[in-house]
Amino acid sequence: MKLHQPVLLEQTIDLLDLKSGEIVIDMTAGYGGHSAEILKIIGESGRLILVDRDENAIKELKKKFKNCKNIDYIHSNYSEIDWKSIGSVDKILMDLGVSSPQLDESERGFSFNKDAELDMRMDRSQSLTAKEIVNEYSEEELANIIYRYGEEKKSRRIAKAIVDNREVKPIKTTKQLADIVENCLPKSYRIHPATRTFQAIRIATNAELESLEATLPEATEHLNKDGRLAIISFHSLEDRIVKQFFKSLIEVDKDPVTGMEVESPNFRLINKKPLKGLQNDNNPRARSAKLRVVEKIN
Ligand SMILES: C[S@@+](CC[C@H](N)C(=O)[O-])C[C@H]1O[C@@H](n2cnc3c(N)ncnc32)[C@H](O)[C@@H]1O
Repeated sequence: MKLHQPVLLEQTIDLLDLKSGEIVIDMTAGYGGHSAEILKIIGESGRLILVDRDENAIKELKKKFKNCKNIDYIHSNYSEIDWKSIGSVDKILMDLGVSSPQLDESERGFSFNKDAELDMRMDRSQSLTAKEIVNEYSEEELANIIYRYGEEKKSRRIAKAIVDNREVKPIKTTKQLADIVENCLPKSYRIHPATRTFQAIRIATNAELESLEATLPEATEHLNKDGRLAIISFHSLEDRIVKQFFKSLIEVDKDPVTGMEVESPNFRLINKKPLKGLQNDNNPRARSAKLRVVEKIN
């Protein structure tokens, strides 16, 4: 299995401003690349909570950190964790999207480069799969998903091709779907023609944007004073949600007459512009990565 290479590692650790003894929750712990560095700084007096909705990731994390006593593992969607039992925390990390092993293991059915059953579930105990979306959603629903989550201008054409093809034969595999998309689009695309459609179906299968939107208010509510939330996003849909939410945290009401701020904000942005992954990074995921960090000041 190809290991997951953590993205923006140094920058994330730096901007989290970790201290010995802190309580940290890594909401997308994956293969523990960021967590391992966090652990070095918070030390044995700190507490680390590792969350992932992928059972495989949790298994690997338990192996990786088997000698550490100050770690709790939670196999769950981060939008469904029980904050009451966790309490408040000093630092939160969210490194969004999929891990390299999820993309690379063909049987997970995420990738158009590897033929496999269309699956795309990060959590394999969930019932909805990509196959169900592709074969059972209406043409209009498919077009909307591909347009919204894939930002694909040719969404209607692709949705029609999917529906025409599935009437002849169910679309069971990643290759079938990739071929259908490829055959209905012009050849001049710089990226593989199915890239946007696969992204869209993956986001819909895992309700990725809904989970993110639902989690941000809860997570920031559970930050201690001086606590920080760092989020690494990988596409504009995620980054827009994060940017707008952070903006809402630092906005305060103004007196309509004087224009003066009525109260001071509870948060401040650590970096006004997102830190970006290097364009020449060997890891293609890094090239689209953006890191935003916010701090609770009151
Ligand atoms: C980019 S990887 C994280 C990699 C990790 N930082 C590392 O260094 O190994 C994203 C991970 O988040 C998990 N994930 C994505 N959405 C999630 C959600 N809503 N709840 C919990 N885990 C999620 C995925 O299963 C995946 O393992």
